[in-house]
Amino acid sequence: MRVAHDDGAVTLYEGDCREVLRGMAEASVECCVTDPPYGLGTREPTVENLIAYLGGGDLDHGGDFMGKDWQMPSVAIWREVYRVLRPGAHPPGGTILDPFMGSGTTGIAATRCGFKFIGIDREPEYVAIAQARIIGDAPLFRRPVKPSARTADEPTPTPGEAPK
Ligand SMILES: C[S@@+](CC[C@H](N)C(=O)[O-])C[C@H]1O[C@@H](n2cnc3c(N)ncnc32)[C@H](O)[C@@H]1O
Repeated sequence: MRVAHDDGAVTLYEGDCREVLRGMAEASVECCVTDPPYGLGTREPTVENLIAYLGGGDLDHGGDFMGKDWQMPSVAIWREVYRVLRPGAHPPGGTILDPFMGSGTTGIAATRCGFKFIGIDREPEYVAIAQARIIGDAPLFRRPVKPSARTADEPTPTPGEAPK
């Protein structure tokens, strides 16, 4: 795992999201918006494959999507995502998480709307593209956000409150 970028408002990780999510504090992000590998492949999974997948394994569907073989990551990821989500939170200026960031489209939308952003992808080439797109995105659209570390005990602003 490598931190490719961190300026307090945007943090980009190059690595497996399972490892990165395990290292994140509980209840530390407001929202997860993501687009995971969706299992387009040439191989129909067997019942045994599906049972193993639901038990925590990856699903190798013989995928060839956009020139890469992407395994469907285990459903166990969503337990970790749920753990890092702050219950009941949806404040302006909060943090949006995309654990399958790809080229960073979610990050562009998040930062343009004044949210902080945490993006994770295991492919170095996509992290580089996302970094160029998000950090290089027209700063005119980005509202100022306080450059500070996110912590689980950071107070949740009341709805309608401007980002600090
Ligand atoms: C469908 S693409 C996301 C596309 C993205 N919405 C965009 O704007 O380009 C899924 C991404 O998940 C990444 N990925 C797959 N498994 C991963 C894992 N275990 N950890 C982190 N990233 C992973 C892939 O490298 C790929 O870039």
